[in-house]
Amino acid sequence: PVLVVDFGAQYAQLIARRVREAKVYSEVVPHTITAAEVREKNPIGIVLSGGPSSVYEEGAPKLDVDIFDLGIPTLGICYGFQVMAAALGGTVARTGRREYGSTAVQVGDHGTLLAGQPEAQTVWMSHGDSVSAAPEGFTVLATTEDTPVAAFENAERCFVGVQWHPEVKHSAYGQDVIERFLHDVAGIPADWTSGNVIDEQVARIREQVGTGRVLCALSGGVDSAVAAALVHKAVGDQLVCVFVDHGLLRQDERRQVEEDYVASTGVRLVTVDARERFLDALAGVTDPEEKRKIIGREFIRVFEQAQADLVAESADAGDPIRWLVQGTLYPDVVESGGGAGTANIKSHHNVGGLPDDIEFELIEPLRALFKDEVREIGRQLGLPEEIVGRQPFPGPGLGIRIIGEVTWDRLELLRKADAIARAELSAAGLDNEIWQCPVVLLADVRSVGVQGDGRTYGHPIVLRPVSSEDAMTADWTRLPYDVLARISNRITNEVDDVNRVVLDVTSKPPGTIEWE
Ligand code: XMP
Repeated sequence: PVLVVDFGAQYAQLIARRVREAKVYSEVVPHTITAAEVREKNPIGIVLSGGPSSVYEEGAPKLDVDIFDLGIPTLGICYGFQVMAAALGGTVARTGRREYGSTAVQVGDHGTLLAGQPEAQTVWMSHGDSVSAAPEGFTVLATTEDTPVAAFENAERCFVGVQWHPEVKHSAYGQDVIERFLHDVAGIPADWTSGNVIDEQVARIREQVGTGRVLCALSGGVDSAVAAALVHKAVGDQLVCVFVDHGLLRQDERRQVEEDYVASTGVRLVTVDARERFLDALAGVTDPEEKRKIIGREFIRVFEQAQADLVAESADAGDPIRWLVQGTLYPDVVESGGGAGTANIKSHHNVGGLPDDIEFELIEPLRALFKDEVREIGRQLGLPEEIVGRQPFPGPGLGIRIIGEVTWDRLELLRKADAIARAELSAAGLDNEIWQCPVVLLADVRSVGVQGDGRTYGHPIVLRPVSSEDAMTADWTRLPYDVLARISNRITNEVDDVNRVVLDVTSKPPGTIEWE
């Protein structure tokens, strides 16, 4: 693999993903990895990621510098560029001049890394310190107004680095830098595809579970649908899918899973009706984290019960089902504080919300992947477009889209509003433009309105259309006014107790996509 060394920024997985887009397999490792551990992984390349710190700061993430003696081609990015410069005898200075955001770079010597790129280009910067002198044996490739060494290269040792962030889309030739490093500097062929992921995961799952039986938490969403199809390919009927109707589902969702998904995959499906159980557990609860934890916990309890029932009814009674498949994606892992040095933003119910006494061992074949990669794998597995193309829907469902206590009446109301919004967005052909559009009920807020000839005192519905590549960051989607008008008219006319529709115009950050 190519190892992406994580210095604690959320950029590391983005880099890993760009490397995979260049058709090279990559893995993220923490910066605490030792040279011996690196050698054991036998990488064909290393990328040192950006990080939040200055190399001079107390407690700044360090790297075992013996890694530079292993003879592995290395690309340093931002903080990783400075770590590389400092370790190899260059100078990193606190210039006091921060560069942040779009910055003009002047390419002097193209070297191999910047071959074919324009001399003047715009890149994305985010740094305080600068490399003021390149290490011996390195050629300076680029400069900016404030940075004398913005990129360097040592062709002999296959060491290169850039001060900017080539992994973000704001760097015009960013992907080109990454591909030049991989293919031309390090000489790595572009031969890794989503087909490889499937083969690899299938082999791994087979080895992991042997002849054991596997349970899958099917939610109807893209992630669990693809995870289950992948596991089904690996172990066939050793897999049983359990679909929990927790009452927090969207309109028509249960039927789609019970009919469409089963028809397209042939998996064995058991539906558990747990609507009352979830509503009871959520009664009186308004705190978002508490809701998430309760939903996560009840989920697991329901699966444990399903397991017990399946064991009891099977011929080989007494042979417990040990494995549980979950469609956890990488962004879920990072945001629940699973990445090294990243903050806990929310407990995603697949990860942070799990109780400690869980009795299953988890199979999470999509844990290192992003949504669009998962969709691609789903297509490769032959799942229909209606399933792989669906809007992401969170595990805790409508439970975290009712701001306030979750009750059945409120769920019914929100289901109607959500169905209207989705139908109108689809009818307007906007499904590919938006990433998802949560519809949120502000159950504890009321406002005065007028309808027919009377005063109303109802609740607002929030529309939260967002555009995103991977849900790590997002922007609010500029929906056409006439589409917004239609959604607003229909919701206020057709949904009782709603007399106002508002639009959320916040990007992520600072807002998250879901309101809770
Ligand atoms: P946020 O709200 O954190 O959401 O910006 C990022 C993406 O994740 C989805 N989401 C979840 N998915 N379990 C999931 O499987 C969860 O607990 C969960 N919470 C949020 C959200 O819909 C968005 O796509």
